[in-house]
Amino acid sequence: MEYRIGRVLLSEEELRRKVKELGSRIREDYKGKKVVFVCVLKGAVIFFSDLVREIGPDVDAQLDFLAISSYGVSTKSSGVVKIQKDLSTDIHGKHVIIVEDILDTGLSLSYIGKLLRERGPESLEICVLLDKAERRTQHVDVKYTGFTIPDEFVIGYGLDYAGQFRHLPAVHIAEPLD
Ligand code: PRP
Ligand code: MN
Ligand code: MG
Repeated sequence: MEYRIGRVLLSEEELRRKVKELGSRIREDYKGKKVVFVCVLKGAVIFFSDLVREIGPDVDAQLDFLAISSYGVSTKSSGVVKIQKDLSTDIHGKHVIIVEDILDTGLSLSYIGKLLRERGPESLEICVLLDKAERRTQHVDVKYTGFTIPDEFVIGYGLDYAGQFRHLPAVHIAEPLD
């Protein structure tokens, strides 16, 4: 199926405001601490880049990257999570915040959470921009949530359809072309 870029669900301005708010909550909570921020590629790349620039110098931040894929080209989860690229940092004894663009079924984040928890971090929390709460099949504890959104197929601000549309600065609804 082909999709076109539909209406804006979250504008650049709304995203900017929310990212600032999440950044200041994290800054307050982790002041004076060393934190590894984990970007879950590829979807989180834009959110992550904006978020870490709101953290400021009072948090001793390191950035690391994990590549994972669960969807392939389909719009629905295949149910299979694969690690494509692991972290390059040893997170044992460190404060870790996993940064994700969207929490859908919860399969990806429950898998990543379990994987990283086994490595013995000092603490492990999740920050997710979008939460499609009604789609959840796996329970995931999230400390920082941006927006709870309806079960619509969303693209832009990192979110793709078959690798397309990640570069759009706002979050749009993808509309099927028939
Ligand atoms: C998408 C999205 C989340 C995950 C959420 O990633 O970026 O990582 O799916 O779905 P879930 O809660 O049902 O697991 P995707 O697998 O499409 O890879 P991408 O980030 O490279 O686009
Ligand atoms: Mn992803
Ligand atoms: Mg994707």
